[in-house]
Amino acid sequence: MEIVLAKSAGFCFGVKRAVNMAFQAAEEDGNICSLGPLIHSPQLVERLEAEGISVVNDIHAVTDESVIVRSHGITRQEEEYLHEHRLKVVDATCPFVKKAQKYAGMLGEQGYSVVIVGEKEHPEVQGIVSYVQNAPVHVVADVESAARLPLGKKVGLVAQTTQAYENFSSIALKLLERSKELRIFNTICDATSVRQNEAHELAAAVDVMLVIGGYNSANTNRLARICREIQPHTHHIETAEEISDSWFNNVARVGITAGASTPEWIIREVVGKLEKIEK
Ligand code: F3S
Repeated sequence: MEIVLAKSAGFCFGVKRAVNMAFQAAEEDGNICSLGPLIHSPQLVERLEAEGISVVNDIHAVTDESVIVRSHGITRQEEEYLHEHRLKVVDATCPFVKKAQKYAGMLGEQGYSVVIVGEKEHPEVQGIVSYVQNAPVHVVADVESAARLPLGKKVGLVAQTTQAYENFSSIALKLLERSKELRIFNTICDATSVRQNEAHELAAAVDVMLVIGGYNSANTNRLARICREIQPHTHHIETAEEISDSWFNNVARVGITAGASTPEWIIREVVGKLEKIEK
């Protein structure tokens, strides 16, 4: 059985950076917490806890610990709170998310109504929204909502980093129809689309597809959905233990991909287990 691992499987740049920063901070300072789980991988969160990094869901519950900010960032108000309380901050906000925050803030300052394409409830989007001061700010998920927005003459547009380009560009087109001036910053990070395109291609070229990642990870669930559409023999797993030998009867090629928050050691364990099935 041939095993084909997608090139982009696993951590994206921002998550890798955040995880490295967390482990390094734990080594230097035992008293440390992350604001919410650092990434959507229960197995990695467990490892981080073993290194002394606890998870705090309410910023007001932080007392004297150092605080790690996750890759999708926090709101400006939360940042101010940490600063006012003189808490030590390890800022692992992905630089691409920082850019989206910066552009949204700048557009607001320059008098644009700011439109953010993304999911309203997502912490990254809430962070970007918080950077817009003294200007109207709207979050839209689709072109239908963009068509109904109350807008001024000057409109500024940014995106949640994980948005699909097609959705962003159709919203941009709609806003162009509805404004006198439109300023667009394409803040989409291509780590997501690269991973999705690769998964799509691989799933079409194999007999069985494994997608590894947390069940609570939105990007892993999306990968599994994409693969399942073209390859019904797709299995979403979190760890190697979930693999069943029966999935591979008469299988010549198996493909593997993994979400942006799936640690490399879990991917290696899956490959290891598949290699044993071959024998
Ligand atoms: Fe950053 Fe893109 Fe990952 S924005 S956290 S590198 S998906």
